[in-house]
Amino acid sequence: MSAPETLRFVDDTLVLIDQTKLPGELTELRCTTVPQVHDAIVRLVVRGAPAIGIAAAYGVCLAGSAAAGDDAISDHNTSDKSAYLAAIQSLATSRPTAVNLFWALDRMRAVVESTPTGELQQRLVAEARAIHDEDRAMCHAIGRNGAALLSGAASVLTHCNAGGLATSTWGTALAPIYHLQQSGRAPKVFADETRPLLQGGRLTAWELSQAGIDVTVITDSMAGSMMRQDMIQAVIVGADRITARGDVANKIGTYPVAVLARHHGIPFYVAAPTNTFDLTLDSGDEIPIEQRAREEVAAPHGIKLVPDQANVLNPAFDVTPAELVTAIVTERGVIEQPTKQKIADHFATNAS
Ligand code: MRU
Repeated sequence: MSAPETLRFVDDTLVLIDQTKLPGELTELRCTTVPQVHDAIVRLVVRGAPAIGIAAAYGVCLAGSAAAGDDAISDHNTSDKSAYLAAIQSLATSRPTAVNLFWALDRMRAVVESTPTGELQQRLVAEARAIHDEDRAMCHAIGRNGAALLSGAASVLTHCNAGGLATSTWGTALAPIYHLQQSGRAPKVFADETRPLLQGGRLTAWELSQAGIDVTVITDSMAGSMMRQDMIQAVIVGADRITARGDVANKIGTYPVAVLARHHGIPFYVAAPTNTFDLTLDSGDEIPIEQRAREEVAAPHGIKLVPDQANVLNPAFDVTPAELVTAIVTERGVIEQPTKQKIADHFATNAS
């Protein structure tokens, strides 16, 4: 398989790289029904905030496709808008934290509500493709806008995977690195392995090494001592939801990295498209944090690491307060030391 895409929609089928299998196997999962897309998002076959939104948008289209066949939603007459609305409602329950999911589903709902039923399937596919195309443009713009921030850094640290596997193309946090690579100036990348599901060790390391970028995986607990030894000049991460005041929800373990960066005087950058902002929330404490299954921590890959008698906590995300963020990079520009006012100005003055 050459240069596979994270996700594509062909012949009424959503084709996803199965990220649960990487880096061992590069395989694709084909989804032809809404429940299959729902399950793929829940299981992290497709993951990363922008990719979840794009997958869900295509998922809505499957409610009206001939292939929907034997799933529950196909019981509706597909010329009836209720099949699509039921799909939107169902997909919205797949994961709670990444606001891009709800942003994409809101766009699909607006099309359902404003389009005559006869044209609906075609218009929905066009809208999902538009969301996908816009994401490609956003990744490249974030790459351009973030490159100057990283251009003096010999080595950067990233957490989780906010690269091509989390989006349509370059990603968010990795986009400036891919951008710099085009002029032969890519920094070395340290990738936190990112317990418990190892998106850094499995996915960031896979995609950067495929692209020929120097990447070194470290355990999450190594970041502090590496900063102390001046081995890291900048941190850059993605985001699942950013509030009006600039608090950032991202993969669990991001907050301690931000605290370490502040202690060591290292800039901590967040790269995210504007559709990752949730301006209805002020404080990060209001962001719903997904709690995932005990087994992901206690028995990964079926290997028992924790006794049955012990409790386990497994929140998938944490919140980094705006005060610890040096800058947020969006497709529209850079918000230095984010505050509520600066974020409002960014949205007002850079409206697309
Ligand atoms: O649980 P995941 O793998 O979906 O978490 C992904 C992250 O936390 C990413 O950093 C975030 O979604 C940004 S992706 C551009």
